[in-house]
Amino acid sequence: MPADGDLAEAAAVLRAGGLVAFPTETVYGLGANALDARAAARIFEAKARPSFDPLITHLADAADLEPLVGPVPPVVAALAARFWPGPLTLIVDRPAAIPPIVTSGLETMAVRVPDNDHARRLIAVAGVPVAAPSANRFGQLSPTRAEHVVRGLGAAVEVVLDGGPTRCGIESTIVDARGERPVVLRLGALPVEEVEKVTGPVTVRPGSSGHPVAPGTLAAHYAPRTPLRLLGGGEPVAGDGARRGYLAFRDRPVDGWAAVEVLSAAGDLTEAAARLFDALHRLDAAGVTEIVAEPVPETGVGRAINDRLRRAAATWQPAS
Ligand code: TXA
Ligand code: MG
Repeated sequence: MPADGDLAEAAAVLRAGGLVAFPTETVYGLGANALDARAAARIFEAKARPSFDPLITHLADAADLEPLVGPVPPVVAALAARFWPGPLTLIVDRPAAIPPIVTSGLETMAVRVPDNDHARRLIAVAGVPVAAPSANRFGQLSPTRAEHVVRGLGAAVEVVLDGGPTRCGIESTIVDARGERPVVLRLGALPVEEVEKVTGPVTVRPGSSGHPVAPGTLAAHYAPRTPLRLLGGGEPVAGDGARRGYLAFRDRPVDGWAAVEVLSAAGDLTEAAARLFDALHRLDAAGVTEIVAEPVPETGVGRAINDRLRRAAATWQPAS
């Protein structure tokens, strides 16, 4: 766990334009001062992230939103009041203080308050909003542990704060609630059903290809280096002796797999989400030729898990 001195040092690095990886409740973020265009540019460089993929700005407290962006539409305010700190990212107008590189030139900005004490104290001590994507190279598995960050980004990051494994395990839900009917741009750790309790019915729009409304929604993303095949149903499939890995939801498959990960023996979707990327990181490191994955029940956070598995299964060539 980061000591106070580490936090102060990390905050100083942020203020000086450096990069700091830090834990949130969803995944580890790769943070830079969101008011500093050159600092933000370093994020894109470190991740090999295309410049058209905008960043999420992180605040220490919900009360910091209005001073930064001014008054927000009532439904946006209601969602922030209900779910911040927490795994919900909201779309607002980009304020002049935030340089366009952070939003990839969009006139809108994605913003959230993470539900993690280390993250919030880091941002508060730095005294600036912090732009942070997930702390992985573009398109690859998101990091849920500090060691994933170190393995994936290495020397590109000045400081990695270790807060242990992240609680939710998958990214925040992104909602554009500025219009008549809210639109979910990315399924995530906050179930759509929870959002709808506040807003009424929403439209779920993942994966519009072409124009990157939210590139976490690109068809191929969140990919392990090992090819991943997603099964059509929940049926267990026997291994055939080839060195293949199996990602199960709750029941261990029959023998024959070189490596097996069970997401939640109790069949709990929240636990499954928390373990998803960790399990994929392990299967990826197991030296198997293919990862075979079962879908999970398509309800609550299970929708976001299946979304990540579908994207991991879409063929995509990792950057290196
Ligand atoms: O849980 C999370 O959200 C994590 C932690 C670190 O906070 N962050 C994260 O960032 O997942 P990243 O960069 O991996 O994904 C951010 C997503 C991208 O798909 C991006 O396109 C979308 O947010 N996004 C950012 N700004 C946007 C905007 N103005 N309009 C629509 N989508 C936006
Ligand atoms: Mg990401």
